[in-house]
Amino acid sequence: MRSKLCTVSKPVAQTLPYDSIRAIEWDGDRIKLIDQRLLPERLEHIYLDNLPDSARAIRDMVVRGAPAIGITAAYAVVLGAGARFAEDPQAWHELLTPDLALLAVARPTAVNLSWAVERMRKVSNTITGDPVPLLRKEAGSIHAEDIAANYVMGKLGAALIDDGSVVLTHCNAGALATGGYGTALGVVRAGVASGRIAGVYASETRPWLQGARLTAWELLQEGIPVTVTAEAAAATLMKQGRVQWVIVGADRIAANGDVANKIGTYAAALAARHHDIKFMVVAPTSTVDMSTASGADIPIESRGEDELLAFAGRRTAPDGARAWNPAFDVTPATLIDAIVTEKGVVLSPNREKLAASLKS
Ligand code: MRU
Repeated sequence: MRSKLCTVSKPVAQTLPYDSIRAIEWDGDRIKLIDQRLLPERLEHIYLDNLPDSARAIRDMVVRGAPAIGITAAYAVVLGAGARFAEDPQAWHELLTPDLALLAVARPTAVNLSWAVERMRKVSNTITGDPVPLLRKEAGSIHAEDIAANYVMGKLGAALIDDGSVVLTHCNAGALATGGYGTALGVVRAGVASGRIAGVYASETRPWLQGARLTAWELLQEGIPVTVTAEAAAATLMKQGRVQWVIVGADRIAANGDVANKIGTYAAALAARHHDIKFMVVAPTSTVDMSTASGADIPIESRGEDELLAFAGRRTAPDGARAWNPAFDVTPATLIDAIVTEKGVVLSPNREKLAASLKS
């Protein structure tokens, strides 16, 4: 994996306010990623020129967030197909098959990853000559469609919120986690721009600190004030009436409306229901998996024990302690007030309403 220090991000064509961050770019003939492991201390980019390194970057969370890993995988297929075509212009399809399998399983919970690999595979099957131009076009479409979906969801989600509301978000479902603009943070961006959102709490998101490190960095880059809180403080925040909405993204939405998202989301949803606080999930249709019947069928990634037993490289738990570290949890549809996709808003979601919304 080649990496290069970069202090200033390339300017991004801005179409909406608060839209200055792009975590993924196609840079000529390679992928350019913000290395999210280093934020907020350092803004550095990593350049990827082959598929196995791209799969490793997804697994190691150089890039993370459901739509972002799907987009990265799509660009990685361009790199992989190009390499296999150069190796053998006749047999490249067969050679590419295990590469696609490797990519699709780099992380198990976010369905956007396998969705994007499958979409790229289908296009590759129609190609006989050099696959790079057409696959590059398809990956670019996946990326552009994601940003466009986020713009639509931002407006739809913000419209549900009363003027001057304060919101709590968990993990990072922003520009860093998507093609740009973000899902939950897209609603925050649109809500701040329209005056509907007057304040944002970001829960820290143990153990990887996506909230404290990434959401806080991303919002401050845009000039949006943010208050970081431990997720353990969420129930108290709600009890004291300090927030009116919880807004989160999703890694996979099952056919019945159950939502897998970052560990801690379920606890926030339980607390929100207890305190009569509204709970919104914002995700593109690429996150909806109608082939998974319910949340119980969603594979939950289990991450390394060191993420919990050590902090910043220093062991914090006593030797001999073990850790249980599921990276995601499932929030049942019954605790969700609204699922927002680019196709519309599903209030009090269930299987029938979600299916009808996807057909629209
Ligand atoms: O482990 P991560 O950082 O990839 O988890 C990310 C999340 O849980 C996000 O909330 C989710 O992917 C939605 S991103 C728009």
